[in-house]
Amino acid sequence: MVGSGATAEVLISAAEIAHRVDELGRELREVYHDAERPPVLVGVLKGSTLFLADLLRAVGIDAEVDFMAISSYSASAGQSGVVRIIKDLEGGIAGRDVLLVEDIVDTGLTLTYLRRALGERGPRSLRTVALLDKVARRIVPVPVEFRGFEIPDVFVVGYGLDFMGRYRNVPDLYAVRDLARLANDPMLLVGPFFGSDGRART
Ligand code: PRP
Repeated sequence: MVGSGATAEVLISAAEIAHRVDELGRELREVYHDAERPPVLVGVLKGSTLFLADLLRAVGIDAEVDFMAISSYSASAGQSGVVRIIKDLEGGIAGRDVLLVEDIVDTGLTLTYLRRALGERGPRSLRTVALLDKVARRIVPVPVEFRGFEIPDVFVVGYGLDFMGRYRNVPDLYAVRDLARLANDPMLLVGPFFGSDGRART
């Protein structure tokens, strides 16, 4: 546990993540290794970046990478799943095997939107790999063909996931136990996570 008052504790260690990413890499290699053209791994910015980098190496086959960035659906949009594309793919995906790479699926609204938007572009196949799946929070059912871990309804940071832009480069995945306290002081975990020399503790 780190932070005074046990603000956060490790939910999944870096070693457990690495092991699971290797397993996912093997699964994905089986699916894509004999495809005519390399699959296109689409990273959804920004949370998926660390996962994508590790997964790409774990898959270990010829593959292409592209990125999308979307705005979070607004509160006023409610459950409609309305999101906006901030950065679109650079390449076309018609006829391609596309793998959406997400750090986390929560309500499922973002993924539902992305699958619809990319599905309209005529990919040969469209699948999703998500490191984390918060099934308990799902509002819309959406297929997640490959997933690393199902996690409970807790706020998580580390391994790409942030709180107000911070903590993405913390190697372990932490569950934040006192979110109100962190919201009140977003730098609360900087000391415990990064130490006095500024390096992320492992
Ligand atoms: C996260 C995550 C998904 C989305 C999942 O992105 O990367 O894209 O939320 O939530 P949902 O299932 O409820 O739609 P976030 O908005 O935190 O952006 P980030 O990846 O840039 O941190």
